[in-house]
Amino acid sequence: MRLAVWDPDEPFRRWRDALVQHAGELHLSVDVIDAGAEPDEQADFALVWKPPQAWLAGQQQLRAVFNLGAGVDAVLPLMRSHAPGVPLIRLEDAGMGRQMADYVCEAVLHAWRRMDDYAALQAHATWEPLVLPARTGFHIGLLGLGHMGMAAARRLRDLEFPLLACTRSGAPRAPGEFDGPLYDIQRLPEFLARCRVLVVLLPLTDETRRLLDYATLRQLPRGAYLINAGRGSVLDQDDLADLVEEGHLSGATLDVFDPEPLPAGHRLWRMPRVRITPHVAAQTLVGPSAAQVMHKIAAIERGETPGGVVDPRLGY
Ligand code: GLV
Repeated sequence: MRLAVWDPDEPFRRWRDALVQHAGELHLSVDVIDAGAEPDEQADFALVWKPPQAWLAGQQQLRAVFNLGAGVDAVLPLMRSHAPGVPLIRLEDAGMGRQMADYVCEAVLHAWRRMDDYAALQAHATWEPLVLPARTGFHIGLLGLGHMGMAAARRLRDLEFPLLACTRSGAPRAPGEFDGPLYDIQRLPEFLARCRVLVVLLPLTDETRRLLDYATLRQLPRGAYLINAGRGSVLDQDDLADLVEEGHLSGATLDVFDPEPLPAGHRLWRMPRVRITPHVAAQTLVGPSAAQVMHKIAAIERGETPGGVVDPRLGY
């Protein structure tokens, strides 16, 4: 079978070597090609990150497309128009959950230990111990509880913070997976009102685009802290900047923006209580991702449906 890889962020040979190795372990024989170098070659399976529309449109015999990341918002519209009916399959954790948990916990601890307040005091050489909020009342709200959200939730639970979550359906993916209060999206205002820290890990869909605007974010309690490591377009970053400037929000740690890169002139860059990282919270790891994709292909070959098949109606 032929696998075509389109990944502008990674040297092709890294994918080829890892895929060939894992295919061998599964007794599958694969021919891996660089879709950028051989755009006219037809493939059975594609592994892509933001592929060009013309290339996807020219692929006539695809059995499935694997998205080389957790969020499928960049590729799903192309699939709808140029490969309708071809299953789109996303990575499920594949080493990203652990990175996301690290990122979120660092930001939660930063907020809890009042590091922005200490940075402000340091700027004036001021030695002043501040009151630490009680951990038991420091509620962390997870907006989105997919693989990334659950990885963050498990680690935050180890840190003994009280957790709550809000998801589209308000139902856990697996029974007992999340033991805190769980709200459905209809109850977003009630959920937000309880969060000392809001962790946004929603997929970007028609329903979540600009979900968090000024009025919605204002429902967070005064002094709340925001972490967004999902997709930039889920919130209105100008409204967020206003709320931090007004002091309603105490600060934010942001990994994702709309657009990316965040334009150099944007005021968020210069806000002392806003920390910015360039979409690095959870990066695709070639080894674990190639292993996972090959296992999913093996499942397809056995006539099974692998995990991570995207529901085009839901958009994730
Ligand atoms: C990164 O943003 C991903 O979707 O994996």
